[in-house]
Amino acid sequence: TDSKKEKLIKVHVDTAELFHHVLLNTKVGEEALQYLLDRGLTRELIETFNIGFAPAERTMLYQYLSGKEYDQTLLSETGLFVERDNGELLDRFYNRIMFPIRNQQGKTIAFSGRIFKVEPTDGKAAPKYLNSPETYLFNKRNVLFNYDLARANIRREKEVILFEGFMDVIASWDAGVKNGVASMGTSLTNEQIHMLDRVTDHVLIAYDGDNAGIEATKRAVDLLSEETHFDLDVLSLNEGLDPDEFIHKYGAASYKEMLAHGRDTVFAFKMRYYRKGINLQNESERLAYIEVILNELLTITSAVEREVYLKQLSVEFDISLDSLNTQYHQLYEQKR
Ligand code: GTP
Ligand code: MN
Ligand code: MN
Ligand code: MN
Ligand code: MN
Repeated sequence: TDSKKEKLIKVHVDTAELFHHVLLNTKVGEEALQYLLDRGLTRELIETFNIGFAPAERTMLYQYLSGKEYDQTLLSETGLFVERDNGELLDRFYNRIMFPIRNQQGKTIAFSGRIFKVEPTDGKAAPKYLNSPETYLFNKRNVLFNYDLARANIRREKEVILFEGFMDVIASWDAGVKNGVASMGTSLTNEQIHMLDRVTDHVLIAYDGDNAGIEATKRAVDLLSEETHFDLDVLSLNEGLDPDEFIHKYGAASYKEMLAHGRDTVFAFKMRYYRKGINLQNESERLAYIEVILNELLTITSAVEREVYLKQLSVEFDISLDSLNTQYHQLYEQKR
């Protein structure tokens, strides 16, 4: 066994326990708890995800862990501290709501801390979420938030739902949608794709409905399409909402209805994606758009599905199905 790994995990488990206790049972945790309750989190949910609070001081965690006789070298390797020039360790996370990040065995190996009192600025000084740095335990390329709890549900549902944010995973869980995971705020890595691959071949991408989310969806679609055996769908939420916001605005039932019947095929997503910013009144922009779509159609292996989209294009642009078919086959011959 890897005893260094076990010790580092032990530190993280103790840390999560402390933060969780501070959130639920202390005066300094009250404001953070209220923030979470106002956002619609229940105590049960706070328990399930072991959410905590790191108060606004720089040595609470250090003192707590030192009292447990962990040695300085080990503590400095946890990523939970920043080291001063004089070697002194200060708590990295303070005045943040703390989300434990668990590995595939359900052990806490890192944290992400959310600022909540001041609205996050664009400045580097106060990022909305602060993550543990890469450590001996934590390599964010290899981690999908909630993979450990979701895995059995993914197998049962035969589908994984991929979210952008932790809060989307958590709100969905509360709505009864328990097969959700999130990558660590970066675009999907090969390692994460292989983790998905091991449990399912159906992926529903449910990123935020804002522009950043739509761009991230396009990147995820492209990455996952390289693995030919994935069946992909896309959930597109209106009004720029993310799944968490959608659930709180429209309720769990509407959300589940969206997941069941409001999803787009990858092709429908791409059609809308490429239409953004194109002036369809302009002849050349319109023709360019049609060519892009026809090129995308080349990737669809089902003749029936292709036919449906060609008909759609034909109606939408008032072009005969014959000419669309002719142009499609020209492109097909060129690409062969
Ligand atoms: P809430 O505002 O709490 O609802 O969070 P969100 O999940 O909606 O966050 P958002 O859509 O802004 O970002 C999605 C994900 O990107 C988050 O869950 C984080 O993993 C990551 N992220 C967002 N902001 C930051 C940041 O400032 N720093 C880092 N490292 N990651 C971030
Ligand atoms: Mn299948
Ligand atoms: Mn976003
Ligand atoms: Mn979001
Ligand atoms: Mn959100």
